[in-house]
Amino acid sequence: MTAAEPIPNAARGLVVLGDNLEVLSGLPAESLDLIYIDPPFNTGKRQTLASIKTVRDEDGDRTGFKGQRYRTVKVGTSSYVDIHDDYLAFLEPRLAEMRRVLKSTGSLYFHIDYREVHYCKVLLDLIFGRDCFLNEVIWAYDYGARTNKKWPPKHDNILVYVRDPARYFFDAEAIERIPYMAPGLVGPDKADRGKLPTDTWWHTIVPTNGKERTGYPNQKPLGILRRALQGSCPEGGIVADFFAGSGTTGAAAYELGHRFLMVDNNPEAARVMAGRYAHFDGINYRGVNPSDSDVQTTLFAAG
Ligand SMILES: C[S@@+](CC[C@H](N)C(=O)[O-])C[C@H]1O[C@@H](n2cnc3c(N)ncnc32)[C@H](O)[C@@H]1O
Repeated sequence: MTAAEPIPNAARGLVVLGDNLEVLSGLPAESLDLIYIDPPFNTGKRQTLASIKTVRDEDGDRTGFKGQRYRTVKVGTSSYVDIHDDYLAFLEPRLAEMRRVLKSTGSLYFHIDYREVHYCKVLLDLIFGRDCFLNEVIWAYDYGARTNKKWPPKHDNILVYVRDPARYFFDAEAIERIPYMAPGLVGPDKADRGKLPTDTWWHTIVPTNGKERTGYPNQKPLGILRRALQGSCPEGGIVADFFAGSGTTGAAAYELGHRFLMVDNNPEAARVMAGRYAHFDGINYRGVNPSDSDVQTTLFAAG
């Protein structure tokens, strides 16, 4: 791997088992075309993270927003508000690093829960700049029970930021078009061609018994990733996911002819990815043994 290459030259993909902040800080600046992330919130892991805070300190152990140094401080067990503060403190140095490693033409897709999105939007505005906010994509689905105590929440938010609003890559022509709701109103030619999707994406969740299912919790649908990559990744570009989970982003990238970097700190995620990518050519692994994927191969077969 040369200083300017985030993944080995000949590789189609690289899977790394490790903490994303550590991996990010070792990557060359301006080397990625597209980053998609789908960080967890309020899981068991998150609660462990909830006891950590970063504070400004010139002698600190990490670099954060605008290159400032931060020190990691352990705090006691937290109330709800503390958990929330810590979530943003956890994200901040990572998002700052993601901005650093994006090319000037690059974009970040940040997938988040409707309860957290507003806080994360403000944080991203601070890190990227408000003028770099491109879209809020709403992924609307229709699955699971419906509460009758309020409007049943059936969407996720994906915030899209670009590194440079004057130079970012976006190719509307490459995006798979969708059928018109009333094709009779637009004439046969337009109806045949379909229309460009808007910022509201209707898409089913990964079906519980579908072929796509890996068994990894919170797996996102390939169709969502495919669409993001079609619009925002140039031909043969490098796509990264620093909260990779089951590696959906890598699967979409490979399918579309891009190269990818997948990072997760959970050995289970790394094993699922090794199983999912077993039939792909040119995938390298760091910190994970790709032949140790028996459990996931069984899951695939069962799916
Ligand atoms: C919601 S899941 C991602 C699911 C993924 N989008 C998919 O389609 O399968 C979030 C992932 O972030 C990982 N994660 C959490 N903290 C991390 C960290 N500090 N470094 C790397 N990965 C982390 C978790 O292990 C988990 O697999």
